[in-house]
Amino acid sequence: MTALALCLIIFLDLVLVIFLVLFLVFMLDSLVKGHDLPTSKKTIKQLIKIILKHKPEAVNFYDLGCGRGTVALAIKKELPQLEVRGTDYNAIRIFFAKLKSFFFRRKIDFKKQDLFKIGLQNADIVYTYLWYDLMPPLEKKLQSELKTGALVVTNTSKFPNWQPVEIINTRTKIPKLADFETLFVYKKE
Ligand SMILES: C[S@@+](CC[C@H](N)C(=O)[O-])C[C@H]1O[C@@H](n2cnc3c(N)ncnc32)[C@H](O)[C@@H]1O
Repeated sequence: MTALALCLIIFLDLVLVIFLVLFLVFMLDSLVKGHDLPTSKKTIKQLIKIILKHKPEAVNFYDLGCGRGTVALAIKKELPQLEVRGTDYNAIRIFFAKLKSFFFRRKIDFKKQDLFKIGLQNADIVYTYLWYDLMPPLEKKLQSELKTGALVVTNTSKFPNWQPVEIINTRTKIPKLADFETLFVYKKE
């Protein structure tokens, strides 16, 4: 065996080990840390239409609880003029989000942070896909921090007091989970 062939085998083994470790971390994170269901492609397409309809002049987009960055990456691809920010308190998910943005060469500001600690005074568009119990405190935060006219889109869970200006159900075939993948569109008054 030549030295070149040996180097190639070692290199391929290394790539395989890295891939397996990443896959293991990915699986463990999903099992242990729970609820990381990403927004579906179909719903992201709808989200992009909502942005173009309600806030075409927006400068920035925030995904609060961005997981592994699925939505942020898609928004940056389709609307590259937007400054895209994603925050999640799960370090592993932020690691994967950063890795993907590096490989896809999309400049996105991913931060490991509790979404309740991030300042939203300058936000133009806020997107969330979070547990129902987070919606009341999030509504309070957005009410006190967001500027008038900011666009807020929530997926599946809605706010207790704010009234949506539009509701779009992207998955009508699941009657038991009526609001699953339903987008609630709000404008900060
Ligand atoms: C259902 S996933 C949604 C991921 C992504 N936004 C999407 O739609 O594809 C919800 C994410 O919110 C994150 N999360 C929940 N509570 C949070 C908090 N207080 N601060 C930051 N992230 C939070 C979870 O770690 C999880 O990754």
